[in-house]
Amino acid sequence: MTPATAAALRCPVCGGPLLLTGRSLRCAKAHSFDLAKEGYAYLLPMQKKHTADPGDGKAMVRARRAFLSAGHYAPLMQTLAELCAALPHAHIVDAGCGEGSYDKYLYDALNGPQLAAFDLSKEAVRLAAKLLPEAAFCVGGSFCAPVRDGWADLLLNIFSPMAEAEFARMLRPGGHLIYAVPTARHLFGLKEVLYEHPYENEVRQTEYDGFTFVKAVESEAVLTLEGQSVQDLFAMTPYYWNTPADGAARLAACSSLTTEIGFRFLVYQKM
Ligand SMILES: C[S@@+](CC[C@H](N)C(=O)[O-])C[C@H]1O[C@@H](n2cnc3c(N)ncnc32)[C@H](O)[C@@H]1O
Ligand SMILES: [Zn+2]
Repeated sequence: MTPATAAALRCPVCGGPLLLTGRSLRCAKAHSFDLAKEGYAYLLPMQKKHTADPGDGKAMVRARRAFLSAGHYAPLMQTLAELCAALPHAHIVDAGCGEGSYDKYLYDALNGPQLAAFDLSKEAVRLAAKLLPEAAFCVGGSFCAPVRDGWADLLLNIFSPMAEAEFARMLRPGGHLIYAVPTARHLFGLKEVLYEHPYENEVRQTEYDGFTFVKAVESEAVLTLEGQSVQDLFAMTPYYWNTPADGAARLAACSSLTTEIGFRFLVYQKM
């Protein structure tokens, strides 16, 4: 976090702007938030903390880091970077940023935009802040986001909950939202191992209050994974938690896996 990126943030207690002085963020009403050792801030309002450790857990976050840092989703990240490059992107917010691999990729591809990113999962934010110290990473929630009104030119939501009112609040008028959702066949090869009757994903494309739909861009590839990457992919998906034991056992016995992957990037503009 730098003073420039910290200028994206707002106080979770009173909503006032936060200023970074030394290693703590302070608002005009003297609410103060020390940065953690890794450089992130904890900006989740106490009343929003429903469980002791909300968001994705350590094992899931670490599996996602291992998988994404191996470059398996690079074709999808490349499409996203091209999409961002074609839009105003001086100030980017990543809502539900996870462990920050997308943020690092975009930061490098877009020559260092000002980036503020948050996630409910403290472990994810901890890893993200270590990976990209230049960005302002916070533990925070999309439905009570720690970002100032109108700060963002571009807001990213990659496979995370949709909070349209907060997303509209953080974007400047005319700013863009990129919402990444799975294509119909995303991870179908994985589901064929896990389930006897795998279903294709439902393809969503919804209208949101305060936004105009601009376009949908699809990015698809076929992946062949070996060894631990197969298990990492499984452990970073929700299937990990709701697959019957026989499906999980079949996957555990797989030393390699070929699957389609695909993201559908929905682009909206704030009115
Ligand atoms: C499927 S992961 C995607 C992470 C990252 N965007 C990526 O694609 O690698 C969903 C993320 O949303 C986070 N999350 C869930 N509910 C959230 C909320 N209300 N606000 C912010 N983040 C949330 C989880 O902790 C998790 O890191
Ligand atoms: Zn305050």
